[in-house]
Amino acid sequence: MTTKPLISPEILVPRLGDQLVETGLLTARQLQQALEYQEKSANTGYPILLGQAFIEMGFLDRPTLDRAVTEQIMSLRSALVDANRGLEKRVQQRTTELENALRQLEELNQLKANFIANVSHELRTPLTHILGYMELLQSEALGELTPDQKKAVDVSTRSANRLQSLINDLILFSMASRGELNLVLRPVNFPSLASAALEYVRSRAEAGKISLQLSLAPQVGQVNADQEKISWVLIQLLENAVKFTRPGGKVRLSAAVEPKSPDAVTVMVADNGIGIHPERVKEIFQPFYQLDSSATRQYGGTGLGLALVQEIVKAHGSIIIVNSVPDKGTAISFPLLIAKRDGVQ
Ligand SMILES: Nc1ncnc2c1ncn2[C@@H]1O[C@H](COP(=O)(O)OP(=O)(O)OP(=O)(O)O)[C@@H](O)[C@H]1O
Ligand SMILES: [Mg+2]
Repeated sequence: MTTKPLISPEILVPRLGDQLVETGLLTARQLQQALEYQEKSANTGYPILLGQAFIEMGFLDRPTLDRAVTEQIMSLRSALVDANRGLEKRVQQRTTELENALRQLEELNQLKANFIANVSHELRTPLTHILGYMELLQSEALGELTPDQKKAVDVSTRSANRLQSLINDLILFSMASRGELNLVLRPVNFPSLASAALEYVRSRAEAGKISLQLSLAPQVGQVNADQEKISWVLIQLLENAVKFTRPGGKVRLSAAVEPKSPDAVTVMVADNGIGIHPERVKEIFQPFYQLDSSATRQYGGTGLGLALVQEIVKAHGSIIIVNSVPDKGTAISFPLLIAKRDGVQ
């Protein structure tokens, strides 16, 4: 066990000897002699403090030494007070700078959300007209189409539909970032919601030669959720799983009641696809962010899906958990409260 060093004025006040020489109480030679005396004492096994050496050698008396030490403590204290004051001022300055930067950032974010909201609403109106006329063309209400014209109308309709769903996502995103995601919480039948979401992605999965599985524990029934938004969440997670899994892979949507949280259904979308590096998991929830943002990127999309998924899950009072291993696969899960039989919880 190490013993604590004795706290003495000489330890607290550095360079006592130098100060005594500077104030003329000691000559440089006397200081040198005292230092040698101190060293000798230490070598013989009796270490002494420097002040003690001055007294034993008759260079100073105790009251003079004490006075000198007190003076040094006073100057040290005032230096400390000054340094503290300076530090506080700098911290204050930095805090103000950071607060200003944060305010600017918030304003910019608000501007971005407003811009997205306005532009998306402006885009939606003409697109509705386009889609309306496409439908008329497709139904041949405006005249019979040749096979080539039919094909052209089909392709255009598909593209316009994609555009519409992107615009709807943007509107949802701008609402979420303005805190306007108003949920309609009701008891929702989870098994039918899950089957519908799987059906929605089935053709894409088949095209990518990916098998889809649904695994629902028998206790899974009604959950307390916003039906439209949670089904959107499931579709986003399933679309990601299908998109980031190689042909021959598997995607599974499961729901179970964990014994440690019997009030909730844990929903999980798991794949055995390309996975995500653990250090990059946080990034995937940033809006407009894709892990591969290179010009040669392989996968389509805008990077909006998971940002919105997170907002919606959060608005349900829930939290998303990501488990992913590069080249092995990804599992994304979140709990939803079970709806009580007599209505909304
Ligand atoms: N199941 C997954 N496996 C591997 N990487 C994933 C998975 N899900 C998401 N990611 C990564 O997270 C990024 C963000 O996902 P997100 O759904 O937000 O955007 P996106 O799918 O690229 O575009 P969008 O959903 O807007 O069409 C993806 O680009 C991808 O890099
Ligand atoms: Mg996505």
